[in-house]
Amino acid sequence: MQEKKVNLSFITGHFSELSLEDQQLVDNAKTAFATAYAPYSGFLVGASVLLENGEIINGSNQENVAYPSGLCAERVALFYAGAKHPNVKVKTIAVSVLSKNFEVNDVISPCGACRQVMAEYEDKQEQTIKVILHSPNGQVLIANAVEDLLPFMFRSPLLKKN
Ligand code: THU
Repeated sequence: MQEKKVNLSFITGHFSELSLEDQQLVDNAKTAFATAYAPYSGFLVGASVLLENGEIINGSNQENVAYPSGLCAERVALFYAGAKHPNVKVKTIAVSVLSKNFEVNDVISPCGACRQVMAEYEDKQEQTIKVILHSPNGQVLIANAVEDLLPFMFRSPLLKKN
């Protein structure tokens, strides 16, 4: 038996330290959560995807009274980007949140299913995606690849017989 360690790398800082491009994407994510449909959680999430052609695609969480039928903001934005521009690579995704019920004082990490979807798009486009998480108090966390948010992810080659 052997103990192994996983090395993760991410950057923390403040919104003001981001590049202009990244600040604009976060600003978009902040406008996107205004379109959230979250009557059950009151938790508004906005996600903005920057494509390599410069287009920005926004998504927000969409809830449903049959709870599992809803979808997170990240997947709404990524699936829309994939459907609209199947052959254009995703450069960056920014996520911002706001709660109607309490003050959010930390960045919120995407759920496992959203990270898995991000990972699949990385595989599809053979290029990593930068993930920027933003909290209402201006804190940011940046991961330059989804692997830093989801170690031991299930990847499509694992489906093939070796
Ligand atoms: N949610 C997202 O949209 N993204 C995440 O990364 C985490 C959670 C949504 C789902 C649900 O509408 C609400 O936040 C509370 O879980």
